[in-house]
Amino acid sequence: MKICVTGGAGYIGSHVCKALAEAGHEVVVYDNLSTGHRSFVRWGPFRHGDIRDTARFRACLREFKPDGIIHFAASAYVGESVVDPGKYFSNNVGGTLSILEAMRDEGCPAIVVSGTCAVYGEPKEVPIAESCPPNPINPYGASKLFMERMLADFATAHDVRWMSLRYFNAAGSSPRGEIGELHEPETHLIPRVMFAALGSIDAIDIFGTDYPTPDGTCIRDYIHVDDLARAHIRALEHLVDGGESMALNLGTERGASVREIIRGVEKISGRQVPARAMERRAGDPAVLVADAAKAREVLGWKAERNLETMLEDAWNFLTARKDA
Ligand code: UFG
Repeated sequence: MKICVTGGAGYIGSHVCKALAEAGHEVVVYDNLSTGHRSFVRWGPFRHGDIRDTARFRACLREFKPDGIIHFAASAYVGESVVDPGKYFSNNVGGTLSILEAMRDEGCPAIVVSGTCAVYGEPKEVPIAESCPPNPINPYGASKLFMERMLADFATAHDVRWMSLRYFNAAGSSPRGEIGELHEPETHLIPRVMFAALGSIDAIDIFGTDYPTPDGTCIRDYIHVDDLARAHIRALEHLVDGGESMALNLGTERGASVREIIRGVEKISGRQVPARAMERRAGDPAVLVADAAKAREVLGWKAERNLETMLEDAWNFLTARKDA
């Protein structure tokens, strides 16, 4: 297949490009480098542009005539979305609309988008299946849910197939360590615990120790980025083969608490992680764990890498950069 990857210079996008190239597909990356890294674009040509620039994106589709698009270009900080919702509706909703219009005009038939478990908000039951009614509690989740709504409406009106992959907590990195999680600022738990292990921050702040969980800290379903990458390829193949459009959860179906992550990092690094208990962070549900049965059924996909592998790969990426 020939595939255009928007946001292909970012964390998950670059891992998907690598997996696509290794599977023999042709990739073009379209990215405005607002948060992505030029050095992560290694598996095909690069076109610099914003997804909201419809004419530019349309030109990219006209030039490459891809069989499909995998769309990652989006803003993805929950906290920022609360203080600057306009950015999220412009980039995520407006940007996706621009992509859909370009696809319609250029006859590009299929799109896989980066969804999120944030569409579920505070879930009524865990594990969370796709049948759980979406009810986002922040503008980030709302923008991703509205993207799905637009995809469904474009699919009804035009010849476009779509899949939204609602991931839980992406983690880890390519085992070779050439690409990985590198956000600025870095707010995610696993890299921050590693920063504390390496001494580049004083301590990891544990946001809330009074949750109704066995050790009082939040539980999340961490999933290896390479498992996510495989699912995107399967999803696009499914659509290109004429499969049905839908939203699917992607997770390991196993939860880990903040304290378990800290212990896991101590084990793989052989270092102590200084930690301090803090107040809860606003908008954090106690437990988010996926029911990924539908992805197994529709895509024949299941997560293969465990938490230890995720932590080892993330550690290797970070320490390789630190030594560089
Ligand atoms: N946490 C800490 N200390 C930190 C950072 C995080 O205790 O310094 C805790 C959080 O409170 C949370 C857990 O670690 O309980 C995981 O937090 P992350 O920030 O790593 O991830 P989130 O679960 O907040 O966010 C992820 C994705 C979002 C997505 C969201 C859905 O990064 O894009 O899941 O809930 F929207």
